[in-house]
Amino acid sequence: MEQELSKLKQEAEETLSQVTDADQLEAFRVRFLGRKGGLLTGILRQLGQVAAEDRPRLGQLANDIKLDLETRFDERKTQLTETLANASAGGTDYSLPGRCLPFGKLHPITQVMEEICSIFEGLGFAVAEGPDVETDHYNFEALNIPKHHPARDMHDTFYVTDSILLRTHTSPMQARIMERQDPPLRYVVPGKVYRCDSDITHTPMFHQVEGLLVDRRVSFADLKGVLTSFTHKIFERELTLRFRPSYFPFTEPSAEVDVACVICGGSGCRVCKQTGWLEILGSGLIDPEVLKMVGYDPEAYSGFAFGLGVERIAMLKYGIDDIRLYYENDLRFLSQF
Ligand code: DAH
Repeated sequence: MEQELSKLKQEAEETLSQVTDADQLEAFRVRFLGRKGGLLTGILRQLGQVAAEDRPRLGQLANDIKLDLETRFDERKTQLTETLANASAGGTDYSLPGRCLPFGKLHPITQVMEEICSIFEGLGFAVAEGPDVETDHYNFEALNIPKHHPARDMHDTFYVTDSILLRTHTSPMQARIMERQDPPLRYVVPGKVYRCDSDITHTPMFHQVEGLLVDRRVSFADLKGVLTSFTHKIFERELTLRFRPSYFPFTEPSAEVDVACVICGGSGCRVCKQTGWLEILGSGLIDPEVLKMVGYDPEAYSGFAFGLGVERIAMLKYGIDDIRLYYENDLRFLSQF
């Protein structure tokens, strides 16, 4: 019996060490410690048939083994519950590599606006910014657009009061800059502008970069030269430019500038509506009236100005066909730039 007991002890310890889940643990309990049909109980039952002088010693031995196995069983049970609880709570696997924090990026419009400004900085222009909430005076009057002038209709203005509004273009900075400084001057003005308009090519808020250069004997040729170098840089190739006569109250003469279609190269496609040309900006020589209003002598000075749409340039540069994509805050779109 002594041998049987020590064999049982050894087998039980081995089995317990291989237990990995609750079912196996329960099977262990039934097999070795179960009251009915458990191996140890079976041996204890045979004690009655053992010689009387051996009975106390063997009884003691069997009991010690029983106690020992019960203690080990409890320990294993506690261990297993802890491991299982950890796993179901998500566990903590300290060997996993750390998670990287995602890096933010500048919005594509901000990137293109910065690129536009830095190209002009390379051409000797300084950068200035002005208020988004503007007066009627700077947004219209100082730009030779008096009350009831038909050009006001094109602006779809958001008014705050009768005389205060959200600027509809960056041009008001022309007068603000010229008022506080004498020529020669060269500035670009990046910023947000607002118009009550919304469809696939218009959002109520969009971005412009205004350009302004005033000096002695500035001519249309200077305007063409500056805009040509700028276009070649921003589109990274030598696209042909077309200056189309146009009208703005604050420039005379005025021109809208088109580039040969960046998609088809000029042969005609859906993007350029089969014309081969894409309009990118408005420009002209500053109207003498505008110069007079800020106290410049139009006989002594002349200048050019231009205003370009940043969303439009970014759409052409990256082949984006819906302006609203910029403002939906969809990271799948934004993170491509
Ligand atoms: N401000 C005009 C607009 O938003 C664009 C423009 C045209 C700006 C001609 C200029 C310019 O500086 O000379 O439609």
